[in-house]
Amino acid sequence: MRVLVIGGGGREHALAWKIADSPLVDQVYCAPGNAGIAEVAECVPIAPGDILRLRRFARENAIDLTVVGSEEPLVKGIVDSFATAGLRVFGPTREAARLEGSKVFCKQLMQRHGVPTAEFRTFNGPERAKSYLEMIGAPVVVKADGLAAGKGVMVAKTLEEAEAALAECFVVRRFGDAANVVLIEEYLEGEELSLLSIVSGNQVLPLAPAQDYKRIFDGDEGPNTGGMGSYSPVPSVDDALYERLVDEIVRPTVAEIARRGIDYRGVLYAGLMLTDRGPEVLEFNCRFGDPETQALLPRLQSDLLELLWTAARGETLPAAAEWSKGPAVGVVMASGGYPGSTSKGDPIIGLEKAWAVNGVEVFHAGTRRGPDRRLVTAGGRVLTVTGLGDTFAQARARAYEGVAAISFTGEQHRTDIALRAEEWEARR
Ligand code: AMP
Ligand code: GLY
Repeated sequence: MRVLVIGGGGREHALAWKIADSPLVDQVYCAPGNAGIAEVAECVPIAPGDILRLRRFARENAIDLTVVGSEEPLVKGIVDSFATAGLRVFGPTREAARLEGSKVFCKQLMQRHGVPTAEFRTFNGPERAKSYLEMIGAPVVVKADGLAAGKGVMVAKTLEEAEAALAECFVVRRFGDAANVVLIEEYLEGEELSLLSIVSGNQVLPLAPAQDYKRIFDGDEGPNTGGMGSYSPVPSVDDALYERLVDEIVRPTVAEIARRGIDYRGVLYAGLMLTDRGPEVLEFNCRFGDPETQALLPRLQSDLLELLWTAARGETLPAAAEWSKGPAVGVVMASGGYPGSTSKGDPIIGLEKAWAVNGVEVFHAGTRRGPDRRLVTAGGRVLTVTGLGDTFAQARARAYEGVAAISFTGEQHRTDIALRAEEWEARR
């Protein structure tokens, strides 16, 4: 098979790396890719949002399956566009991608089936929103309805912060039309969890649970980022809870999507909060998570390409995937200044040494080759270093040994990725 992966982050490196490993594969392309992806796939310089050029490339290169990394092309309708040219994509149609593209759509879909989620109200102007805020008080969460590059969710600890968030939406118009409608949502407390499933029509293949770290600094301090690390599986999620999450959250959501006549083929990513009153949904995404994918795929023993190809054709999925027993821990190394504006072009030293650590995989995100072929940073998140081991202690130690081997100017990473899981393991 000839496969095209769309994107150029750590998630797409993990996808391309795993797909390249499949006995079914003849050739992997990636648009636009990065310096690490170039080692497992042929990179083509087309932006993920340029659907027409991507479609032409796929047609001219007889691509059998296109796998989309980020939500942007999905929400823009890449699946629908490719279908008109008889091309298969692993990912939902534009209509189905509204699950991620519109938070109001997503909330209404959950309500319909009693899928547990935070209480919310929607507003299309500041006045009523403000009086509602005054009524319910803080902490509270203000969310732009549409896609806002991961910045449209504002957790407000005080009423002042909440009002400022409303002003960002309605007065400053920071998110443009994405915040024409704003949700004010009950603040949920607990442990966060990512549960990704491969969906083929009304069938669900749940993947192993994963944990994602959103804040930049240790101890969940500082601003939100695209994700600073992840691990899988999650030891606090026992079999009973896992089944409950699948039966009470994932399956009813997929059933409701199918009931609406939507043929969903792709990843359904449930962002969950394990609260005192039980698990609740924070959001659904319509694609693989970054950096969850960098912890999930190194443990996957099943043939990923076969699963994606099965789902893309709407065929029958196996009931479960095969996983290696031991856990995986992925630590993100980011450029100086991230998540604000970051430096670029800094030489990256020590990758070979990191690769040499037993049980370590290095996934590239913001990397490129300089004029002299030297590996340099390209800003934002630069690498995810994933350690595999028999225990969390071992997987963590390996991941951090890999991290310690690598350096670039301004480099930042968290030191507490999967520490909770290691402590949990030690208590048993
Ligand atoms: P989202 O983009 O919806 O995943 O939101 C980004 C982050 O905001 C989540 O990962 C949570 O950490 C936080 N968040 C979103 N909704 C809520 C909520 N209702 N209560 C508490 N935190 C939330
Ligand atoms: N890890 C969060 C996301 O992919 O949205």
